[in-house]
Amino acid sequence: WTFQDPLKKLTARALMTLLACSSTAQNHAAKSGLIDSCVEQLNQTHSQLHLESVRPGKASHRKKVIKLIVEILRSALYCNDECKVVATDARLTLALYALWPWILLDDPIIEAVLELLCVYTANCTKACGSLCGSGSGVTPGSKGTSSSSLMHSVMKLATGLAPDNSSTQKLAFSLLTNLALSRDCRGLLQKNNFLQAFLSVKVPKVGGVKATSLGGGGGGSLLSLWLRLLVSLSFVEDGQQSILKVTGALELLADLAPHRRHALLTLHNLCFCPANKPHIIANEKAIKVLLCCLESKEVETRSMGASALWALLHNNQKAKTTLKCPSVRLRVEEAHTISKKGIHNRQKPTSTYLLKCLENLSQLLNS
Ligand SMILES: *[C@@H]1O[C@H](CO)[C@@H](O)[C@H](O)[C@H]1NC(C)=O
Ligand SMILES: *[C@@H]1O[C@H](CO)[C@@H](O)[C@H](O)[C@H]1NC(C)=O
Ligand SMILES: *[C@@H]1O[C@H](CO)[C@@H](O)[C@H](O)[C@H]1NC(C)=O
Ligand SMILES: *[C@@H]1O[C@H](CO)[C@@H](O)[C@H](O)[C@H]1NC(C)=O
Repeated sequence: WTFQDPLKKLTARALMTLLACSSTAQNHAAKSGLIDSCVEQLNQTHSQLHLESVRPGKASHRKKVIKLIVEILRSALYCNDECKVVATDARLTLALYALWPWILLDDPIIEAVLELLCVYTANCTKACGSLCGSGSGVTPGSKGTSSSSLMHSVMKLATGLAPDNSSTQKLAFSLLTNLALSRDCRGLLQKNNFLQAFLSVKVPKVGGVKATSLGGGGGGSLLSLWLRLLVSLSFVEDGQQSILKVTGALELLADLAPHRRHALLTLHNLCFCPANKPHIIANEKAIKVLLCCLESKEVETRSMGASALWALLHNNQKAKTTLKCPSVRLRVEEAHTISKKGIHNRQKPTSTYLLKCLENLSQLLNS
């Protein structure tokens, strides 16, 4: 683990490549203790850095070691649940949390660590839990209720970055989007008021910008990163509620929905949460946006509008009273007529779904 020898560096690179492309190699590495020894090495590096903090010369070498180990771990954990369990048992999160102050000193290391954490947390709630302190990543003596965890540090990093650190920012948000899968992590996002920062994101002027270029939320702008996180949160009920708890978030989403697919998708998902329905129904802007969707040329947009309106009306007397007016009924009927004509086009499943939504809608409005 000294890496002075160029041969060792080459060996490490070869190992990474092998691990990244073979799950057999990954499992073998886990069984022979590679993951444990990597985490152990991180632990040792932490103790050494701690002792040497007065001698900066050696620190740069230690940081190279950290980066290489982190890269090996990333290859070892990539899409491999068994290896993720081994890493969790070795308390990978705790080792990285201890090293965090040193990690922050160096952009390439931050990025390598965030990449590792993205791989580790992807589709793995146990790994997510370890980051927010609900699992084995807990600092001793602060179980569960810890007010500091690796996830706290990641949230701080995500909101505290200069706008030009886009690759770090992208990785930090990708990680938070992974973490949104876990209930405990969602709880922490909410407790920490993290979502509040969505309101202060700079929204680019939409006038003159073609809607298509804003469509898929492509690009790495901070707004796109936020919207992706919100979509991820909006698939579950507690996430839906925590979005609406941010005063002003609904208005901002309604403003963005005509230009940003991910904002519309989030708004759509929010309509399915019973506790949210009264707020959305009372929000003229949101209702207007959803009704406008019915007139879109795109089947997918019409479907999202119709499905969201149907969700609002379903089991909700208040919504029925609000929306049961001739103008709304007329718009639904028009959309229905147009959609029946377009049923033979290529997007068949979406068209069928849209028709079903519109049928349901007009049934509810006419009952
Ligand atoms: C690394 O250190 C942490 C905390 O000091 C400890 O809980 C963990 O077991 C160590 N992991 C390894 C593999 O040595
Ligand atoms: C996520 O994990 C579940 C089970 O743990 C598995 O069924 C599913 O296919 C995985 N999804 C992805 C995208 O890896
Ligand atoms: C962000 O970028 C600036 C300038 O490019 C750099 O000085 C800084 O260290 C970077 N990292 C963080 C965490 O802000
Ligand atoms: C239409 O309404 C039925 C019954 O209320 C519901 O089960 C179904 O999911 C709805 N379909 C769509 C596409 O919204």
